[in-house]
Amino acid sequence: MNAKSQAQVQGMKAAGRAVRAAFDAMFSACQPGITTQALDQVGAAELARHGARSAPQLYYDFPGATCISVNHQAAHGIPGDLVVRDGDMVNIDVSANLGGFVADMGQSFVVGEANSEQQRICTAVQEAVEAAIAKVRSGRSLNVIGKAVQAVADREGYTIVENLGSHGVGDSIHEEPSYVPLDNPQETRSLIRGMVLTIEPFFSTGVQWVHEEEDGWTLSVPEGHLVAQFEHTIIVTDRGAMVVTQ
Ligand code: CO
Ligand code: CO
Repeated sequence: MNAKSQAQVQGMKAAGRAVRAAFDAMFSACQPGITTQALDQVGAAELARHGARSAPQLYYDFPGATCISVNHQAAHGIPGDLVVRDGDMVNIDVSANLGGFVADMGQSFVVGEANSEQQRICTAVQEAVEAAIAKVRSGRSLNVIGKAVQAVADREGYTIVENLGSHGVGDSIHEEPSYVPLDNPQETRSLIRGMVLTIEPFFSTGVQWVHEEEDGWTLSVPEGHLVAQFEHTIIVTDRGAMVVTQ
């Protein structure tokens, strides 16, 4: 989407608030003993309360309202009878359409007792998104995002997953520009005023490519590796990024 009018900006903010509310409710409910199915129901109820429709269901017929990926699962985990345990790393990704506006956000976090490696990767990927957001401004190269993300990944010793992209959003869930948030000197596209897009790197301990599991949805790294994502939806402005999902 290119959000130029005030009505479009307000629409994106309202969609952002709905996905944020669903994420926050799920985050609070994500305690040891809960199933990912029950967690998904918390998110679904919150989206419904806002009048928002789950984007994965709406656009992809995904078997859940939200994506919940646990431990070596990176993305698109299907809610089910998996029980969340103390020390699990969980990624909750919520995207929804509210009144024709689609927002998308996600975050990895550790349930209960985190070990220092789990905590470090979650903190690093969040820091990378925040560093990238600080570089966004209309007229700049799209690559300012990847460059900022890569600087944090390199400094912290993590790989960036290359087959999970960040993307335009707003009218639908996945739009142009589709891009991998790593430093790509060949990138020729620019950030345009009003452009609505996600910034969502996945950091891993050495893995560059996620693989699809047999369920046909879940994308994972090999067991024993860590993977963490952090995602916001932003609108590009002349003064910087407007984050609609915080
Ligand atoms: Co996304
Ligand atoms: Co997402």
